[in-house]
Amino acid sequence: MTALLVAAARAIESHRHDTLVRDVYAEHFVRAASASAGWPVRIQEVADGDANPLWGRFARYFGLRTRVLDDFLLRSVHTSSARQVVLLGAGLDSRAFRLDWPPGCVVFEIDRKGVLAFKHEVLDGLSATPKAVRVTIPIDLRADWAAALADAGFDTTAPSVWLAEGLLFYLPAVAETHLIDMVDRLSTAGSALAFEVKLEKDLLEYRDSPLYTSTAQQIGIDLLDLFNREPRPDSAGDLAGKGWSTSVHVPFDFTRRHGRGPLPEQNDALEGNRWVFANKP
Ligand SMILES: C[S@@+](CC[C@H](N)C(=O)[O-])C[C@H]1O[C@@H](n2cnc3c(N)ncnc32)[C@H](O)[C@@H]1O
Repeated sequence: MTALLVAAARAIESHRHDTLVRDVYAEHFVRAASASAGWPVRIQEVADGDANPLWGRFARYFGLRTRVLDDFLLRSVHTSSARQVVLLGAGLDSRAFRLDWPPGCVVFEIDRKGVLAFKHEVLDGLSATPKAVRVTIPIDLRADWAAALADAGFDTTAPSVWLAEGLLFYLPAVAETHLIDMVDRLSTAGSALAFEVKLEKDLLEYRDSPLYTSTAQQIGIDLLDLFNREPRPDSAGDLAGKGWSTSVHVPFDFTRRHGRGPLPEQNDALEGNRWVFANKP
């Protein structure tokens, strides 16, 4: 359901005249699942339009995040010899089909079986062709995904680019620490990683925020119920301790850079969100 939520946001973003990202597949995912078939895929389909906290501001947040991480991935592969890209919790991310990858690039997509099966069905129906070699790995990230990745052809002796977009806050703290540690172990010099974290001390402080209440009321997704509420590890700090260079950004930095996207507001459920970029020298 959360993957469909992001897909709907990308569909809405794609149809904006000032779009930050064009994902032609997103609306097909939304339409194909019975749970989301009635959701909007254009802002014009939303009665209160941009004033709607879910389909206005939150969807724009996902549009901005997609664009910033598109840029990160493309920059990482085009400025290095890394030709392996791993999307952790890939969901309905269509980057293997959308982005201009350099020759020889392999995109590994890890997510749970049901999500990848649904994705496969929709993309097959569209006769979509990936722009890189695409390898899907249906596994739960709480299981031994590193072994599954190696079995799927990932080369631990070559540099790699990793992405955990909209993922870590769903995982138990120990699974996040394990995942970051594993990415470090599987990454040679020249590798890069981007991920998103939420740093709020108490997520429930924002339980009445327009973003959480509108998502629950309009589409029945209670994000606070899905997010893991254990104290979060300091993954950026852990990577720095392992010798990675890291930079931590608030998403609003990119709103200002692109001239569109969400800005801070009162009682803001996005207040603790950080986008972390890390490079292994
Ligand atoms: C909010 S969606 C984000 C998907 C995608 N990264 C994007 O931004 O469009 C979260 C994704 O994480 C996946 N996920 C959550 N917990 C997982 C787990 N334990 N193992 C594998 N995938 C998981 C979900 O199935 C879902 O596709």
